[in-house]
Amino acid sequence: MKTIRVAIDGPSGAGKSTLARAVAGRLGYLYVDTGAIYRTVGYYAHTHGLDPKDGAAVSAALPGITVEMAYGEDGLQHMLLNGEDVTAAIRLPEISLCASAVSAHPAVRAFLLEMQRKLAREHDVIMDGRDIGTVVLPDAEVKIFLTASTEARARRRCLELEGRGTPQPYEEVLREIQERDWNDTHRDTAPLRQAEDAVLLDTTDLGFQESEAALLAIIAERTGGA
Ligand code: DC
Repeated sequence: MKTIRVAIDGPSGAGKSTLARAVAGRLGYLYVDTGAIYRTVGYYAHTHGLDPKDGAAVSAALPGITVEMAYGEDGLQHMLLNGEDVTAAIRLPEISLCASAVSAHPAVRAFLLEMQRKLAREHDVIMDGRDIGTVVLPDAEVKIFLTASTEARARRRCLELEGRGTPQPYEEVLREIQERDWNDTHRDTAPLRQAEDAVLLDTTDLGFQESEAALLAIIAERTGGA
């Protein structure tokens, strides 16, 4: 079966996951949040006393790590680390920078690549991340680079953290986003960048519904209205 693959890349807080999940629901595609798999490895490093920036230490731990993705009855993506459901734990604010740090190691990226490609071979997918259009699915039918100003992303992230009951001051969130942007765009392996054939969508001045409509329009155009 030939599957349809929609790749959405962009920096932290651009609204990728919320939008991708909603659009996947409308189109009946599987939504794959690839940040969650890097967060799972970051969480492992954090809880096992490993420095997430230490490539040798993190790489040496990989053979003892099993990362699985499961779709619950709620239809949501759950992450399993060595069989334990870590879906909620990987969202803690301290795991974000750990995930960004471990994701810079080539061994970590290689370790997680096939599971992402396998999902896209088996399902119509909307997959979001940093390197989906450039590395994971370079021949995806639709590629979108979703972005927004740093300040807009920090404001949205503050609201999200508040909603989760883990509020953080705006200045701190802004600094963390800037640090993650720098890490994610400056690493040697699979840095965040817009694929040449990706459509740029800047949501700085768009609300949720306008962004969703814009995404759906791009997908319809690129897939011939399918
Ligand atoms: O999307 P997120 O914020 O949950 O991702 C967490 C980190 O994982 C992010 O800072 C960079 C990394 N990541 C990556 O390197 N490649 C991906 N495809 C997705 C995420």
